[in-house]
Amino acid sequence: MPITKQTIAVIGAGGNMGFAIAKSIAGDNYRLLLFDRAPEKPGSLTEKIKQAHPGADVESMDCAHDCSWEADIIILAVPHGAEKEIAGKIRDVATQKVVISIANPVDEDFSKLTTEPDSSAAEELQEWLPHSRVVKAFNTTFAADFEQPVIDGKQADAFIAGDDEEALQAVTALVETAGFNPVVAGDLSASGTLERMQLLLMQITTRNNDNRLAGWKILHSNHRYHRLHGV
Ligand SMILES: NC(=O)c1ccc[n+]([C@@H]2O[C@H](COP(=O)([O-])OP(=O)(O)OC[C@H]3O[C@@H](n4cnc5c(N)ncnc54)[C@H](OP(=O)(O)O)[C@@H]3O)[C@@H](O)[C@H]2O)c1
Repeated sequence: MPITKQTIAVIGAGGNMGFAIAKSIAGDNYRLLLFDRAPEKPGSLTEKIKQAHPGADVESMDCAHDCSWEADIIILAVPHGAEKEIAGKIRDVATQKVVISIANPVDEDFSKLTTEPDSSAAEELQEWLPHSRVVKAFNTTFAADFEQPVIDGKQADAFIAGDDEEALQAVTALVETAGFNPVVAGDLSASGTLERMQLLLMQITTRNNDNRLAGWKILHSNHRYHRLHGV
């Protein structure tokens, strides 16, 4: 747990993932700033979070730039197609900050990724925010998993990728707070693999007509892959 309270900006807080992430970390030692482009949404989200966590330090903001200016960590909980535009709006206030890419750049029928084969949503975001520390995280966890990160008795893994060690540590703590087992997969170039993994899981759940309470788990004899005691 960080000694000083970190401020987390959630851009796109009214969406499935933005709200799920915000709610899952609101009970811990974080200050949350919520932005959504629909101006009526953040206020009601703040209320809902406070109902679940009465002591939560959460505020709604009406500007992505101001929200990011105050933050230590910025979570872009928007479709990949919106990230370039938002990156342009926050670039000057995101310098040196950790920016989390949760996007899975999938096409409409989940048949393929929309990024180039040798790139990824996270690496594109790093190009658009060259002075920020982009970390891939939360893309391999479905929104439904945040209410129940232990699925069928096993704590879902949440894979993380990034180039900056301090940023990886900060995001690892956030992932743990959200209830998942953090697994650092590698540097930011591992993001394409993580995005393809989730495309595959979407394809499988869609093909089987299954719900989206699903995730990934590495089975390994080394117990550091299985941090939740008793699971
Ligand atoms: N859903 C999942 O289980 C899941 C899992 C892992 C990763 N992801 C990734 O998480 C991201 C969000 O997915 P989601 O399922 O939460 O989508 P969602 O429910 O549609 O939410 C997306 C949010 O982004 C906002 N947004 C869209 N375009 C915007 C723009 N140009 N400027 C500002 N805000 C904009 C939307 O606002 P409006 O409502 O006004 O359009 C909405 O609040 C995506 O990149 C997705 O690939 C999703």
